[in-house]
Amino acid sequence: MGLSLISLFTFVFLSFLLIFFHLASSRQSFCHDNEHSALLQFKESLAINKSASGDPSAYPKTTHWNLEEDSSDCCSWEGVKCNEDTGYVIELDLSSSCLYGSINSTSTLFNLVHLQWLSIADNDFNGSKIPSAINNLSELSHLNLSFSVFSGQIPSEMLELSKLESLDLSRNWLQLQQRGLESLAEKLTNLKVLDLGSVNISSSIPHGLTNLSALEFLSLKSCKLEGIIPSSFGNLNNLIHLDLYENNFGGIKIEYVKISNMLVCICLSNNRFEGEIPASVSILKGLRYLNLSNNNLIGGIPSSLGSLTVLESLDLSSNNLLGEIPPQLVKLTPLAFFNVSCNHLTGPIPQGAQFDTFSNMSYEGNPGLCGRPLSRKCGDSDLPPNEDDDDDEGSESPFAFGWKEVAIGYASGMIFGVVLGHIFLTRKYELFVKIFGMPLKRIERKRGRRRN
Ligand SMILES: *[C@@H]1O[C@H](CO)[C@@H](O)[C@H](O)[C@H]1NC(C)=O
Ligand SMILES: *[C@@H]1O[C@H](CO)[C@@H](O)[C@H](O)[C@H]1NC(C)=O
Ligand SMILES: *[C@@H]1O[C@H](CO)[C@@H](O)[C@H](O)[C@H]1NC(C)=O
Ligand SMILES: *[C@@H]1O[C@H](CO)[C@@H](O)[C@H](O)[C@H]1NC(C)=O
Ligand SMILES: *[C@@H]1O[C@H](CO)[C@@H](O)[C@H](O)[C@H]1NC(C)=O
Ligand SMILES: *[C@@H]1O[C@H](CO)[C@@H](O)[C@H](O)[C@H]1NC(C)=O
Ligand SMILES: *[C@@H]1O[C@H](CO)[C@@H](O)[C@H](O)[C@H]1NC(C)=O
Ligand SMILES: *[C@@H]1O[C@H](CO)[C@@H](O)[C@H](O)[C@H]1NC(C)=O
Ligand SMILES: *[C@@H]1O[C@H](CO)[C@@H](O)[C@H](O)[C@H]1NC(C)=O
Ligand SMILES: *[C@@H]1O[C@H](CO)[C@@H](O)[C@H](O)[C@H]1NC(C)=O
Repeated sequence: MGLSLISLFTFVFLSFLLIFFHLASSRQSFCHDNEHSALLQFKESLAINKSASGDPSAYPKTTHWNLEEDSSDCCSWEGVKCNEDTGYVIELDLSSSCLYGSINSTSTLFNLVHLQWLSIADNDFNGSKIPSAINNLSELSHLNLSFSVFSGQIPSEMLELSKLESLDLSRNWLQLQQRGLESLAEKLTNLKVLDLGSVNISSSIPHGLTNLSALEFLSLKSCKLEGIIPSSFGNLNNLIHLDLYENNFGGIKIEYVKISNMLVCICLSNNRFEGEIPASVSILKGLRYLNLSNNNLIGGIPSSLGSLTVLESLDLSSNNLLGEIPPQLVKLTPLAFFNVSCNHLTGPIPQGAQFDTFSNMSYEGNPGLCGRPLSRKCGDSDLPPNEDDDDDEGSESPFAFGWKEVAIGYASGMIFGVVLGHIFLTRKYELFVKIFGMPLKRIERKRGRRRN
């Protein structure tokens, strides 16, 4: 008797609970019918193919998009976000979703005209051109088509997305003519982030690019750029990160670029920069990452690097550096990565502190080096002739004429004219090198602002 009462009570209670949850969930259901079917048609127009995405954690996010009663609200579908008041789809994140197939301007993706945020990065659109109907998405502030096998010329109509703040077209097979880049700069004036990595530009950087005065992040990595870095770069007052990795800024004429009142990150590895590392690099007390790998740098490693007390990573590999590794570097307690491979360094490897943690891989290709972790023991002839601190090396560097005149560029045999530093802008700890063209106080302020 008592038992059946309890059962009855439990049954009634559970029923109420079910009804309550049903009501609660159905109240959020305001996906618009036309957007619902646009999303479904977009899903149907593409195949799911594991090899279409490169990210190992990729999975098909659209699998559970369907018509069934319990998932009819497209606002609750994976990757979809709606405006809570209007119910319109405002965000679509289908990055790394194993989508494979061609896409053109008839795609129902372009019916989602309220989209503000769209990423279809890391899929395989089979060499499709970027559809000009992308223009229908006039509310877009963020567009990411990175690493998705798009090809052909970047359409000039793209240029009408006036609210765009972030545009990532990197790692496709796209081409952009110099004029295209210039008109892109004239129209997309709100851009803060522009990633054109691997877009074939094959020209010099157009002056007009500096119309993008809001720009904070600019990557022109592997764009086959040549010639000089235009002096108008100094107008990009908000630029924090400039990645010019792997281009052909070499053999060029003297061109000094004044970068006053501006803070820039540059990844300079894999270019053809020549000359010495200026000792004045030590001014950059905030330097964390320095990557000058694979250039034609000569001369010694400045002992003044030892005063960069927050340096975490130093890559000087594959240059033509001479002399000993300055013992002052042992003072760099945060140093977690060190690589001087493939140079012409000689003498004893500094011992103690972080230097006890680097393997012989850090020193390969310098037959003149000796001491732990290398098996070659140091003899008398390996002792440095004079242990003096010589902080004046490289004093003929362009910094003789002051901080604000930071210069990029060199000519035949000219000295390396760049003050280098590093900041990490993304949480990924990518390695970039920074040019500081402003008084240190201002740098600190800017840093502080980013941290907040
Ligand atoms: C899957 O995609 C790859 C390219 O990403 C393509 O070569 C292959 O043919 C596709 N497989 C199917 C079954 O469509
Ligand atoms: C991929 O592109 C090729 C060449 O344009 C075409 O023949 C093929 O049908 C496309 N495959 C898909 C799935 O769109
Ligand atoms: C666009 O793609 C659809 C579906 O893939 C195809 O049927 C149509 O012919 C294409 N239109 C153009 C103009 O290429
Ligand atoms: C894009 O916009 C044009 C003109 O506004 C319209 O004719 C076309 O149907 C739209 N395309 C899509 C796919 O919504
Ligand atoms: C674009 O998407 C890729 C892959 O998801 C991501 O790594 C990249 O950071 C995105 N770019 C921007 C500017 O958010
Ligand atoms: C890059 O563009 C240039 C000029 O438009 C062209 O000559 C070259 O073949 C292109 N390279 C690639 C790999 O597409
Ligand atoms: C863009 O830059 C060009 C050349 O530097 C200049 O003539 C033009 O006035 C600029 N346009 C805008 C809208 O700032
Ligand atoms: C420095 O850049 C080179 C490419 O130019 C890269 O191979 C290397 O991994 C980078 N060093 C570090 C420490 O990331
Ligand atoms: C150091 O750099 C060389 C040449 O760039 C590279 O082959 C090697 O793998 C690097 N060593 C480490 C420990 O990263
Ligand atoms: C580097 O270290 C490995 C393992 O510790 C050792 O086998 C190798 O002989 C060393 N190479 C040199 C050049 O010292």
